[in-house]
Amino acid sequence: MNKKFYVTTPIYYVNDIPHIGHAYTTVAADILARHNRLLGREVFFLTGTDEHGQKVEKAAKEKGRSPKEHADLMVQNFKTLWTGLNISNDSFIRTTDDAHIKTVQGLLQMLWDRGEIEKREYAGWYCTPDERFWTEKDLIDGNCPDCGRPVEQIREENYFFLMSKYQQRLIDYIEKNAHYILPETRRNEVLGFLGNNALGDLCISRPKQRLSWGIPLPFDDNFVTYVWFDALVNYFSATRYLAPHAEKAREGDFWWPAEHHLVGKDILTTHAVYWSTMLMALDLPLPKNIFAHGWWTIQGKKMSKSLGNVVDPNAIIAKYGADAFRYFLFREVPFGLDGDFSEEALVNRINTDLANDLGNLLSRFLTMAEKYYAGQIPLLFGTSTTASNDLARACINEAGHIIDEDNFTYWSHLRFNIILDHIWGIIGAANNFIASQEPWKLLKSNPQRLETVMFSLWNALRLSAIFLAPFMPETAEKIWQQIGCKKTMLDEISESRFRSGEQKHPDIFGWEWQPHYEVKVSKGDQLFPRIEKKKEQEKTEPQKKPDIQQTAQENLISIQDFMKVELKIGKVLSAERVKKSEKLLKLQVDTGEMRQIVAGIGKAYGPEDLVGRKIVVVTNLQPAKLMGNESNGMLLAATGPDGVPVVLTPEKDVEEGSKIK
Ligand code: ME8
Repeated sequence: MNKKFYVTTPIYYVNDIPHIGHAYTTVAADILARHNRLLGREVFFLTGTDEHGQKVEKAAKEKGRSPKEHADLMVQNFKTLWTGLNISNDSFIRTTDDAHIKTVQGLLQMLWDRGEIEKREYAGWYCTPDERFWTEKDLIDGNCPDCGRPVEQIREENYFFLMSKYQQRLIDYIEKNAHYILPETRRNEVLGFLGNNALGDLCISRPKQRLSWGIPLPFDDNFVTYVWFDALVNYFSATRYLAPHAEKAREGDFWWPAEHHLVGKDILTTHAVYWSTMLMALDLPLPKNIFAHGWWTIQGKKMSKSLGNVVDPNAIIAKYGADAFRYFLFREVPFGLDGDFSEEALVNRINTDLANDLGNLLSRFLTMAEKYYAGQIPLLFGTSTTASNDLARACINEAGHIIDEDNFTYWSHLRFNIILDHIWGIIGAANNFIASQEPWKLLKSNPQRLETVMFSLWNALRLSAIFLAPFMPETAEKIWQQIGCKKTMLDEISESRFRSGEQKHPDIFGWEWQPHYEVKVSKGDQLFPRIEKKKEQEKTEPQKKPDIQQTAQENLISIQDFMKVELKIGKVLSAERVKKSEKLLKLQVDTGEMRQIVAGIGKAYGPEDLVGRKIVVVTNLQPAKLMGNESNGMLLAATGPDGVPVVLTPEKDVEEGSKIK
């Protein structure tokens, strides 16, 4: 097992205040950091702020501050939010740190000395807000292809990093290393881009007369460094002055390369292309993985100040607590796909998953434990409880999925929602177990069985707490304490590891772990009190239910009718929007044979979200024409929160063309 684990978030611009999108990436990194600490790895978790460049200079000017004064103030917003969200970062880098500036200059000098940087005259279309040059053919209707704003023609001398010469090497690298860019759809996008376009050289300087807020080039004081060339280096520079054992990192490769760079899909190219080629030119190893996650929208729209729909994560935490918010973000949407945020969906998750399933389980167990045993739970070890009950078997099975002995498939692919599904498998099994065993009847009829039942519930809660800890650290610790474990979870786990030697996984992750003391449970406050929905919602709900039942009764079909529908797994090979339609996407799908499907999911998904994905297709529908495009079949999607379609995907990889029965 690799003993070290280094994970990063993007460093966020200090031109604005953080919103739920920033919270999302940082909580994801926190989940990974906490998980790896529990496994006994030494972790370096880095986040920070990107403080140079035009955006920050402009934002500071608008406030009448110097850029540094502005950064000093704004950085607090991030730090406060990370405290509120229980983020366990080991360091916080600011690109205005002296040591970072020196590292950037050192690397630039190295590249200059090696002839990897050249000075050239350059004329091009420049997008000032994005600080990027574009070629004529990149522009869309004469505007920036990224933000849609007008561009200006600029001619000036600048320094260029000779990125183009690394194009083939980068393609080869990505092709050889399936894990390098995840999810796979994003990897295919990058490969598609590199395969179809000639990579240019990268302009890495800005003349000081145009922009002064940046790191001066070490070999020409008339220029400052392009903000991305400065920002990307943070991942490397932090290992050398902020990380634990930074002195070792300076001498060798203690932390580098990082295990995961977590980024949003907006900045995948800068990471997958600029950063990778920079590292190649510097002869440094590439990170093991760049994971580009999806985008949170509000009612299908991008969050923006002008629309007034920016969700303040501090307000959500104040209202619902950090753990509920953390849980929602990672249960609701598979990491990698886009999602739509709504408070209503969050409240639903709190009431069903957290208050009902988890909270009730704990409080029912604790009430019974206090009533039957005055809190002193009999701890029964050995195989007897495992062999004798469904709950033990369910827990062992679910734990096997969560901690996949071979390679942590779900963890290494950041399939957080699936891991949470398996944890809820344990919680669900425990609730069913109470219902089926009816412990309240056993006190008189079979006290021995009652001991087994109560111990099994205790153990299921203990395992749930351990597996939940990366996602909901406060809640997990509360459960841990309430079920009578005496030390903090981390201490208990380290001690258990010490006792079990250098095992692959300490036995505390398994059913048979024994605390070396008497366990006395103590009921604390309710974990997640139910949140009363607004009056209007209460009024509409009871009316809805009979309607649904009635429709279901009327619509019953026979199995023969159902068998007429042919369902198959398809793989989306390409996707594009249907012109002039917001809703329709045209997909080329391999279902064992090639077919075109036109689907009305364009408000929830972009073409890039679907390419490479396996979907469920009705393959024997009569062809239809939608806005002039023939559709041969239909993909299946559920109606998600707010009526947004959610495309169905098989849980495990299945060959395209496989029949669904
Ligand atoms: O790009 N949904 O900083 P930034 C999900 N400084 N994630 C979102 C999001 C949304 N709606 N909005 C933002 C920069 N994010 C550079 C990075 S790294 C060397 C330099 C998250 O402040 C997501 O992680 O614009 C995205 O990539 C990042 O914030 C952009 O933050």
